[in-house]
Order: sequence, then C-alpha cells, then structure tokens
Amino acid sequence: MDIPKKLRACWHPVAYAHEVPAEAPHGTMLLDEPIVIWRGENGQAMAMKDVCIHRGTALSLGWLDKGCLVCPYHGWHYDETGACVKIPQTTNPNIPTKARTQKYLCQERYGLIWVALEEPVYDLPEIPEFEDGGWKIVNTGPFPWNADASRQVENFTDFGHFPWVHPGLLGDVNRPVVPDYTVETKGHVLHYTVVRPEASNTDDFPVFANDEVVTPERRSRYELHLPYTIVLRLGWGGEKGMVYFYVGQPISADKCRGYCIIGRNYDFDQPDSVLQGFEDTIFDQDKRIVESQRPDQVPFDLADELHLKFDAVAINYRRAMQDQGLAYYHYLDIA
Ligand code: FES
Ligand SMILES: [Fe+2]
Repeated sequence: MDIPKKLRACWHPVAYAHEVPAEAPHGTMLLDEPIVIWRGENGQAMAMKDVCIHRGTALSLGWLDKGCLVCPYHGWHYDETGACVKIPQTTNPNIPTKARTQKYLCQERYGLIWVALEEPVYDLPEIPEFEDGGWKIVNTGPFPWNADASRQVENFTDFGHFPWVHPGLLGDVNRPVVPDYTVETKGHVLHYTVVRPEASNTDDFPVFANDEVVTPERRSRYELHLPYTIVLRLGWGGEKGMVYFYVGQPISADKCRGYCIIGRNYDFDQPDSVLQGFEDTIFDQDKRIVESQRPDQVPFDLADELHLKFDAVAINYRRAMQDQGLAYYHYLDIA
C-alpha cells in the first residue's frame, strides 16, 4: 500500500513536547520514515532523518554534545543543519558534502512536536483557548494503535458507537438514535455540530459539566481538519466548556499514535489523572474495535462499506480526503 504523497506535505505530530528532553534525542516514525527529534542548544526542537549516512545506524540511539547529535556507532557529529561536522576516525579536515542527514520542517505548538516532510499545504488549527492562559490543559495518552490514522480519526468522529462501545461513559444504550446534523466542508476542514444524549458523570470519572441532570445532553461543535485532526468544543448550555484537540500521527499504513489534549474552563483543581484515566478507558474500549477493522485504512471509495444518513461525517471525510488528494486507493494495489 503506497502512502499518498501529499500526506508528506502536512504537519503531523511526532511526540508530546515533554517526550523530547533537552539532553537526549528521541526516535519515532512518520509515514514510514524514521525520524529523530532533538533539541539544539537553545532548546528548539529539530527533526531529521534518523539514519546515519555512514552505515545507516539510528541516530536516535546516540547522544547530544555541544549542539551536535552524535552517532552511537562511530561518533560522527551532526550539527543543527544536518551536516556532519566531525568524523573522529580521520585527521583529514575535509568532510565530504554528502556527509549529512536530511532535515525536516519542525515546530513546537500546543505541547506537541510537529513535523512536515515536505513544505506543508495547510496551517495548524487555531485554538485560542489553549494559548490564552485561562484554560486548564491536560495531555492524555498517547494512544498507539495497530490501525491507520484514518481509522483512528474516523472513530473519534463516530457518534453512533457511543452507547455500544462506551455505555455509561459517553452514551446511553436506551437513547441510541443519532440526531440529525449537517456537515459543511470548507477546503480541508469539515464543520458540524450535534446536540446528543450523553451519559451522566460516573463517580470514577466526574469529568463533564452535566451535574444534576438526569438525561443530559451535550452540544458538540466539531472541526475536522484533514487529514487527522479534530478540534471539538463541548458545552452543556452554561458557561462551562471543554475543548478536545485530537490528532493522529500516521506512523505507517497500519500504525498510528493518537494524542488527545483537553482544555476546560472549570475544575481547575481536579488532578490530571482523572481525565487521563477516563481517556485511557475510552481509547482502550475503541482500540480493540478499530484494530479489528478491515482494511486497516479507511476505504475512501464510497462504494466500499455501507453508509447511512447518520454516517454523514464519514461520507464527507472520505469525499474530502479524495478531493484533497490525501486518500488511499485500495484498487491501486490490484492495478
Ligand atoms: S554508522 Fe554512524 S558513525 Fe558510523
Ligand atoms: Fe469511541
């Protein structure tokens, strides 16, 4: 399965910022490319191909030394541009120009490290709540799944499964009907809002602002930014609100790693572990279902699978992914 090339021209998360310390490199994978993330002397995160030009060793197994990334095999030093600037085995000061590793675009925002393998075609979503200092922010996960990022993001958008996969936590099995909603696609962003029944808070996970209500309803305002990002704003009719920021790292065609950052303007004193435990439970319930789906990637041809009216998000997601040139095409395998 070839990965669509345009995915290389999108920002993708590769780590929580706290997973990349100042003093050591961090290795990961993005769209089948091995990536090393490390911080320069000013703390700025950088991304490079995690392959030493000398013998192909993973540079992420090495260490940092005075603003250089050092290969663990023979100690070649790479500087912040990706150029090899020291080869300890030789006294010849002339270093071949081929001695370098590729550098990628990298930025740190919303507590995540983002990488684009080629010049990105879309900007990151704007989430003012995460940057105005007035909201409590909790990092949950990450959630590594044996599924393509398209399956993980589509699961996050799917309302119909809540009473079945998350009974008592996100849905009520006695109120399974999905209310009508409409999806508006603007460029690479899908917009839709749904007011739907939700479960009451549990004693273990009192995370939503729906207290004292017997059959609570939640207003969910979604932005689905292609390819794998969701900004979801929750409200219950009052001042209290939550912002869910979910984004998937496409590791390969059948592996992803989800990040879910949650902001809220209430319950500032609640320990982060409550929300983290809640999302661990929810994502675990989803994982076994999504990892069982075949094929591993969302089949973007609308003739595949069976779509009903309440699946309008999935239909529009598949259509928009095709329109934007981000979709996998399974039939290409056969051609
Ligand atoms: S393999 Fe990296 S220095 Fe030899
Ligand atoms: Fe779910």
